[in-house]
Amino acid sequence: ADTKIYRASTTAPVNIAVIKYWGKRDVTLNLPTNSSLSVTLSQSDLRTHTTASCSSTFTSDTLHLNSAPQDITGARLQACLRALRSLRAAHEASNPSLPPLSTLPLRLASRNNFPTAAGLASSAAGFAALVRAIADLYELPSSPTELSLIARQGSGSACRSLFGGYVAWNAGTATDGSDSSAELVAEAAHWPDMRAAILVASAKKKAVSSTAGMQATVKTSSLFPHRAETVVPARMAAMRAAIAGRDFAAFADLTMKDSNSFHAVCLDTTPPIFYMSDVSRAAVRVVEGINAAAAADGITRPVAAYTFDAGPNAVVYYLAEDEARVAGAFKALLGSVEGWETARGAVVQAADVAR
Ligand code: PMV
Repeated sequence: ADTKIYRASTTAPVNIAVIKYWGKRDVTLNLPTNSSLSVTLSQSDLRTHTTASCSSTFTSDTLHLNSAPQDITGARLQACLRALRSLRAAHEASNPSLPPLSTLPLRLASRNNFPTAAGLASSAAGFAALVRAIADLYELPSSPTELSLIARQGSGSACRSLFGGYVAWNAGTATDGSDSSAELVAEAAHWPDMRAAILVASAKKKAVSSTAGMQATVKTSSLFPHRAETVVPARMAAMRAAIAGRDFAAFADLTMKDSNSFHAVCLDTTPPIFYMSDVSRAAVRVVEGINAAAAADGITRPVAAYTFDAGPNAVVYYLAEDEARVAGAFKALLGSVEGWETARGAVVQAADVAR
């Protein structure tokens, strides 16, 4: 009998949306109400590393995250495993010389190099790495867009972490989700001087999960349909144009407006959801101060753009040429703003988008 241990390892980076996904039209399939667009951060900064192995000597499927055993019975994870196994089974059926890995128990081991579930898109990198590690183990011929359909079922935003650079998740219209996948908008190298600073206000787990929050917003917010049907479609088109033209002024304006729109529909939810904290609002004012100072120096565009996900931490996008103005100002100012984490590396972490 074949007692070999088959193994593959991969990493997937975090992505931070500049046009936010918020709201599901199908909770089981993770189909969004609106399209979204994100920037994938550099692999060298925030990432998940996953090793997938399988063997007839294993007794059951297992998953460890940062060495701690995880519950694997969740419907999302099971949907991903089922989809990958069925692709492998089809691959084996057309290539009879392949070993029958699709029937073997899987052992999955993931490690994040950043805090889990603190609004730092850990589930995005996590499911993207998990899906790609298994796809590599199974030697699947699937494209990143095909794998994004599977990662999406694990965590919506994960579908965007299958690509580097600027990535759109097209909401799609099919009820089976077959057209709700991620697509490369532009390679990171298209805009090589883009940077992101991650400001960790709190590394605690978020109070309201994104799934629970989205469902509450869809059910109770009267602002939400306007955002999903009118605001976001126009912004998706404008953001694609801003990226194509490397127009930082438009990119910054759209990014900040969309973050605020997302947090506005959270506030418009009953009961209201507060992801941003006083510390987050202090970061907004720091960015406004940085942009006002740049304007006073005759720079005719914003130099920094903030965005906040389902948590209090800020991500600030800026261009390399403005590094001193932006990251420098944050380093200097955050010392005087209470509440920012001072733990190792957490105050400000500049991520090079292009690497
Ligand atoms: O992927 P989820 O289900 O955790 O949702 C993430 C939602 C936001 O991070 C707030 C926005 C986004 O587009 O990533």
